[in-house]
Amino acid sequence: MDLSQDAINQVVQEALAAFASAGSTVELKAARAAHLGDKAPIVLANKALGALPKEERKAAGQVIGKARGQLNQAYAARESELKAVELEQALKAERVDVTLPVAKQPVGAQHPITGLMDLMSDIFVSMGWEIAEGPELEAEWMNFDALNIGPDHPARATSDTLFVEPLSNHLLMRTHTSPVQIRTLLDRELPVYIVCPGQTYRADEFDSTHVPVFHQIEGLAVDKGISLSNLLGTLDQFAKAMFGDAISTRIRPHFFPFTEPSAEVDLRCFVCHGESVGNPERPCKTCKSEGWIEWGGCGVVNPRVLAACGIDTDVYSGFAFGMGIERTLMFRNNAADMRDMVEGDIRFSRSLKGAAR
Ligand code: DAH
Repeated sequence: MDLSQDAINQVVQEALAAFASAGSTVELKAARAAHLGDKAPIVLANKALGALPKEERKAAGQVIGKARGQLNQAYAARESELKAVELEQALKAERVDVTLPVAKQPVGAQHPITGLMDLMSDIFVSMGWEIAEGPELEAEWMNFDALNIGPDHPARATSDTLFVEPLSNHLLMRTHTSPVQIRTLLDRELPVYIVCPGQTYRADEFDSTHVPVFHQIEGLAVDKGISLSNLLGTLDQFAKAMFGDAISTRIRPHFFPFTEPSAEVDLRCFVCHGESVGNPERPCKTCKSEGWIEWGGCGVVNPRVLAACGIDTDVYSGFAFGMGIERTLMFRNNAADMRDMVEGDIRFSRSLKGAAR
């Protein structure tokens, strides 16, 4: 191997040229392997020193040592140069302009049914009532028997009720929120004042006024000395908070197995305000010219229901009510078609945004 000054100079020049022409740290690494790696000429020259006659070894050693030092330095200098350039490039390429307007993601809107249930709950919470909950997959006993709805009651017919197989388990999708009355009476200490907003299920048609999965709010008060007049006062307060002070309500005798006496609560028709009654020239589609629209059911809790929950009916009495949330949204916010409420079109929710407040 030629270890002359000229030959080493040549090796050094080639290596320096390779380092200088490397355009990236990756290329520089490759140049390093070729010019400073195990098989690089300068390394081989260093190894070859040992084979030189002693008198030549020292001088050649100095030449090679200087050359290696020069190359190592040149390499390090080029490396930091390239690193700085690459860092700058990366910073430029990854720069984020925080002042740019962002692409707007459409934000969702709370569903009006949810909003309305919250609003109703708030009305009762502000009167000191509590919120109660129960499962949607319910025991047949809770949904029917305990509410004095006997095995032969038409409400139990499979055409209305969605029973869950195997039938021997006696489980169903609750058909109303009333079983929460039972759960509350079994769980809580008396007195109780609760409302339960929630989802309910019936094997119903799907049309503008029926949806198989719908919502109700149930109310229950059980205390000493509760009477029908407490019910009337509460409903009046509830209706005013929902529909404004000008609303009129009335109750009309009805039948529910779990209340005695039972009634339906009506609201004065919003559209004709009763003026269509006996006035065939100005019929009202909303109330079918009856002047009133049905809002929900209510009554004094049937003592048999209290007794089923182990409550002393000589001491305690109660009242209960139940309203459909979808129906309420229809009256209150002019939502004409219940199907809009389940189709999940954001435009429907947006159109009623804030309305259920
Ligand atoms: N559970 C009844 C229904 O779904 C509504 C109802 C009526 C609830 C009278 C009550 C009540 O609490 O007292 O049709």
